[in-house]
Amino acid sequence: MKLKTCLIGCGTIAREHARAYAELKDEVDVFAFDIDADKARELCEEFGFAGTFASLEEALSSPDVKAVDICLPHDLHLPVARMCADAGKHILMEKPIARTLQEADQVISAVRSAGVILMIAENMRFHPPVVEARKLIDKGAIGRLNMVQANSWQFHIPPGWRRSKERTGGGTLIDRGIHFLDIPLNLAGPVETVYALKPPQTVKEMEGEDGALVLMKHRNGVISEVNVTWGTPGAPQGPWFIACGTDGSIYEQNGLWIEKMGGEKSSIPTDPPDRAMFLEIEHFVRCVKEGREPIVTGEVGREDLALVIAAYKSMETGKPVEVSEL
Ligand SMILES: NC(=O)c1ccc[n+]([C@@H]2O[C@H](COP(=O)([O-])OP(=O)(O)OC[C@H]3O[C@@H](n4cnc5c(N)ncnc54)[C@H](O)[C@@H]3O)[C@@H](O)[C@H]2O)c1
Repeated sequence: MKLKTCLIGCGTIAREHARAYAELKDEVDVFAFDIDADKARELCEEFGFAGTFASLEEALSSPDVKAVDICLPHDLHLPVARMCADAGKHILMEKPIARTLQEADQVISAVRSAGVILMIAENMRFHPPVVEARKLIDKGAIGRLNMVQANSWQFHIPPGWRRSKERTGGGTLIDRGIHFLDIPLNLAGPVETVYALKPPQTVKEMEGEDGALVLMKHRNGVISEVNVTWGTPGAPQGPWFIACGTDGSIYEQNGLWIEKMGGEKSSIPTDPPDRAMFLEIEHFVRCVKEGREPIVTGEVGREDLALVIAAYKSMETGKPVEVSEL
């Protein structure tokens, strides 16, 4: 039977989700709701979806709708997730899980008491080069992992709600950076200590930081570095990530590569990186249909957020922050 789901928020990222649902049209019927009714209608028309709802209450009171896909500004994640959980809907929600760890705990508690599935849409967990690198690292292809680096150098002036620290919970790090913090978390495991710095602001239009350099020590001794900025015009994009071990390195730069001690270098075939969103949505749909826990649970989303919050605390205090003490 087809799963009936409702996109809540029909802006930029909802369009990417919609593209994935359109490919899954034999498995899902999609409805849409946005506070701006025209956006919901246009999305439905463009992708041939089932229809729109006039309000969130109307969407949540429909017994046929079993799931929702929350693509809203960060300050709406907790209140809307709570309403959806209380209405018994399974939830796919865009990152970050919330703006603070207290909010994240309330989201998790609401879905646990309602007994519904929550998946955070952290697409880096489905980014084919990261998935492949993780398999190779786990198989010992580069020996013992020592260091991970993840990079996103951009120039971007965010519009609308993204300029407000109150609405996003921070700046570039909680918005784009959380994806790049998830890479070392996924590849190297839980983090013990976080130290972070922010550069002088270039993007004056936003209240939050426009860039961050984050250093992390993982519980297993691996160290990692994450560079994320929206304030670096003209900067070349280096490798998205590099994972270095005792016997070699794996990195993503125009494809995924493994280079062994001695210089032997080979390309590792993966699905195209832009399949991540489809793979993420497909995973959520399958998990709901089969009653399975997704790989990016609320707890994983909280772990990602904890790294952001630790980095913010470190930026403020100028000191390393123990994640366990947050
Ligand atoms: N995974 C990714 O790569 C990625 C990329 C971009 C954004 N995101 C995340 O997706 C979420 C949405 O970001 P976006 O870029 O799509 O934002 P957006 O501003 O483009 O879209 C938000 C939509 O929500 C609607 N909206 C606002 N208040 C509403 C309400 N009360 N009820 C219903 N609709 C409402 C707006 O009208 C708008 O259409 C954020 O959590 C963001 O961090 C993720």
